[in-house]
Amino acid sequence: MQDLSVLSEKMAAIKEEITSKVNELESSKAVYEFKKSFLDSQKGKISQLMKEMKNIAPENRANFGKSVNELKNWAGEVFDEIDQKLKAEEMKKKYESEKIDITMSAKMRKRGNLHPVTQVRNQLIDIFASMGFEVYEGTEIETDYYNFTALNTPQDHPARDMQDTFYLSPEFLLRTQTSAGQIHVMEKKKPPIKILSPGKVFRSDDDATHSPMFTQMEGLVVDKGITLCDLKGMLDVLVQKIYGEGTTTRLRPSYFPFTEPSVEVDVSCFVCGGKGCKLCKGTGWIEVLGAGIVNKKVLENCGIDSEEYSGLAFGIGIERIAMLKYGINNIKLLFESDLRVLEQIDD
Ligand code: DAH
Repeated sequence: MQDLSVLSEKMAAIKEEITSKVNELESSKAVYEFKKSFLDSQKGKISQLMKEMKNIAPENRANFGKSVNELKNWAGEVFDEIDQKLKAEEMKKKYESEKIDITMSAKMRKRGNLHPVTQVRNQLIDIFASMGFEVYEGTEIETDYYNFTALNTPQDHPARDMQDTFYLSPEFLLRTQTSAGQIHVMEKKKPPIKILSPGKVFRSDDDATHSPMFTQMEGLVVDKGITLCDLKGMLDVLVQKIYGEGTTTRLRPSYFPFTEPSVEVDVSCFVCGGKGCKLCKGTGWIEVLGAGIVNKKVLENCGIDSEEYSGLAFGIGIERIAMLKYGINNIKLLFESDLRVLEQIDD
């Protein structure tokens, strides 16, 4: 039989050990280990005491059990208390170390934006798409036939001098105009046709308002009964969306081999409203694009019956629209990739 007094001493020693060491614990992890050494159901010193029960005289068992339970409960409370205290301290330290100053000003990240030419291109596509146009993108290398001949500009036609061409061979060239796309579309598709053809074009031309590479947007509508009125209606919608309500267009006679009649389209000056200013050179009008009624010969070249169908076409210089819209006076600014310029243009 176990002597009760020996067990009492053991209990006192346990209590003493806990009391003296508990305040030396420095972390919740240490508390956990320390607690385990007493309360682990198998190896804990207090749990071990319980196992002595069978070695005690039956009449003493109830008292002994009660004392061990009291010790166990007391120890549990002591450990909980220190655990809570240390956990709170640890949390506080963690908060301190992870503290962020939400009043600190943020580092500005450089954000890219679409190139102004792309912005205008997308805007034009959106406007025409809302009128039912589809996009056809041609190729930058073209044959002489698609770029000129089929567009009623055969070899030796004086209009070829209007565009200084980069030839790659007698047959191939860098397209000088997106008008070449008209032919591809009309060869493949039967009317009704309503397409836009945006893309890069190339000419040996270089000054403040011309660049050897620039971007055009061709428009072509072929159907029964198409007239210049349809053209004017569409272009009025276009300029109002780009340059604002109240802007209007005027058509002036011009010449392009692939249209008959041909027109030059002016927009009423969106700076002075038509009174005359520096931008419109006092005229109240600014030239923006070329257009016309598709020449019957061009329709016939593509196998479209020009008695049954008629068409309208227009060619917009995207850089020109962008320069007017954003007040840029030198086309080179659009191609020099100077972020100080490009960053300022974001619609
Ligand atoms: N292709 C012409 C140019 O580059 C622009 C143009 C004028 C296109 C009249 C057209 C048009 O479709 O009808 O100068």
